[in-house]
Amino acid sequence: MCGIVGFVGQKADALPFIFDGLKRLEYRGYDSAGIALALPQGIAIRKSKGKITLLESVLGSLPPGPCGIGHTRWATHGRPTDQNAHPHTDCHGEIATVHNGIIENFQELRAELIAAGHQFVSDTDTEVIPHLLEHYGGAQDLESAVRQAEMRLKGAYAFLAVSSHEPDKVVAVRRTSPLLIGLGKNENYLASDFSAFLAATRRAVAMENGDMAVVKPTTYQIWDAGGHLVDRPVIEVDWDIKQAERGGYPHFMLKEIMEQPEAWSDCLLGRLDGGRVVSSELGLSNELLSHVSRIQIVAAGTAYHAGLIGKAIIERVVRIPVAVDVASEYRYQEPVLEQGTLVIAISQSGETADTLACVRMAKEEGRVTYAVTNSVGSTLAREADAVVYTHAGPEIAVASTKAYTTQILVLSLLALALAQSRDMARPELVQMLRELPGLGHEVLERMDAVKTMAEKLANNHDVFYVGRGIDWALAMEGQLKLKEISYIHAEAYAAGELKHGTLALIEEGTPVVAIITESTLAEKTVSNILEVKARGGEVWGIVDEKLPSTLPIDHRIDIPMRSPLVSSVLAAIPLQLLAYWTAVTLGKDVDQPRNLAKSVTVE
Ligand code: M6R
Repeated sequence: MCGIVGFVGQKADALPFIFDGLKRLEYRGYDSAGIALALPQGIAIRKSKGKITLLESVLGSLPPGPCGIGHTRWATHGRPTDQNAHPHTDCHGEIATVHNGIIENFQELRAELIAAGHQFVSDTDTEVIPHLLEHYGGAQDLESAVRQAEMRLKGAYAFLAVSSHEPDKVVAVRRTSPLLIGLGKNENYLASDFSAFLAATRRAVAMENGDMAVVKPTTYQIWDAGGHLVDRPVIEVDWDIKQAERGGYPHFMLKEIMEQPEAWSDCLLGRLDGGRVVSSELGLSNELLSHVSRIQIVAAGTAYHAGLIGKAIIERVVRIPVAVDVASEYRYQEPVLEQGTLVIAISQSGETADTLACVRMAKEEGRVTYAVTNSVGSTLAREADAVVYTHAGPEIAVASTKAYTTQILVLSLLALALAQSRDMARPELVQMLRELPGLGHEVLERMDAVKTMAEKLANNHDVFYVGRGIDWALAMEGQLKLKEISYIHAEAYAAGELKHGTLALIEEGTPVVAIITESTLAEKTVSNILEVKARGGEVWGIVDEKLPSTLPIDHRIDIPMRSPLVSSVLAAIPLQLLAYWTAVTLGKDVDQPRNLAKSVTVE
């Protein structure tokens, strides 16, 4: 949670760079924002409660400088106020810090520092850092102070520090929360993720857990947790900045929904060969694939919903048992992880704290862990034994869309690779995967009806989503999308479960979104729809176009389904657009819904 940006260069242009970087990281949190420049006359700070646009209005009077740090906040300790906004400083305004994560022992440190005469002005855990640095002489020797302070801090965090006495360097620490060093020409950058400096460079170094770095305009040095100087590999991404911008769409979410066919092509690129999946492109050896006897998937939110579809696909294609758990629960369940279990962690950001905790737990048990992520250089990508990238490109909107559908595609590829390793290849499914991007465009062109549906849906307080099998998993994602951006109460049910209680909530006009892409289960779902209609419910269907036109549905969206084993991503599109247009109709902040953040790096 929270986004941090740092800049150190030879020209006095830290301010515009940091401000631009913060705008790109705003999806990580948008409760408040601030920038500090390290100037010889002292630290100059501007900060403001609310979104980056509010910060912009107070930046005008900030003098130019070559070194600085910035922060966009998602509040954990202390309400979103001007005072709690980062950066925070020491008592004399000579040191400034920005921080992402949590300092667990901040209360104890704060009491100790107050007793030693330090004055605190905020309620945050972060403020102990600059005071601790001051205590260790950080104004004159920031590097050494950071080393000493580091030994006192407990928690999962990343922070940047600058001193007005040393305006040629940013000192950075990474303990769990993500941090990258972007490599520029006569200037270097620091940020929580690539998008903050993508306009300047595609080359970066991902700091590892426990690393400390001193970054100057033309050099950087990294020490590991043991204090040894280390070389970390330079990574390069092929994203361009346009991919990280809105590309003319009113919202990132709409752009990301619309670019799904391209994202699917990128995800499949180089991974299909004739009627086979190129297993080596999935990061797992054939040997390992052939020995997997069980799969445990862990994930959160939308990634969990992708996992549910992955389970159905893998079990049906290759008959290996798959369990799917919400990471925040799984980590505390003392689970039994049998020999031969492959633990798959799905995460767009690769930074979700609970998902990472599950991976660490599985590794301790000696199980092979496999990351399905969109984020090159993320913690998950580096900590898991093997990784496969979804190649969805940067996903900026808080509501996940293209990351979700590419996660499903990767899980389909995995199912097919597992099958191949057991001489159970399914060339017809491989061919269907190839057709998906084209079909995706077709579905996107048919979506006007969804807008009309959304305008009607926006008048409701409660919406129900139902389906069976994979359609139930889709229903769960559909309701989450609607809830998180439109704030309308929505719930998903296995269609057959309605009559066990929820049917009591259906009354005249209650909207029920029914998903029927599993044509073999269509008849069963239709019976449940009839139960809904008998109680006055209004049914909105997202259905396989091959199903008869006589289905008892009030409003129908047809999907060109091939097989639910590979085509479920097509049905995700109307669900995403339904949520999107409903939120737009209601005038909600689509890309940055209230109370949420893109990446949840705290428990
Ligand atoms: O980065 P991750 O995929 O690990 O994130 C998991 C969830 O926080 C995320 O999917 C969340 O549910 C989205 N806001 C849903 O749109």
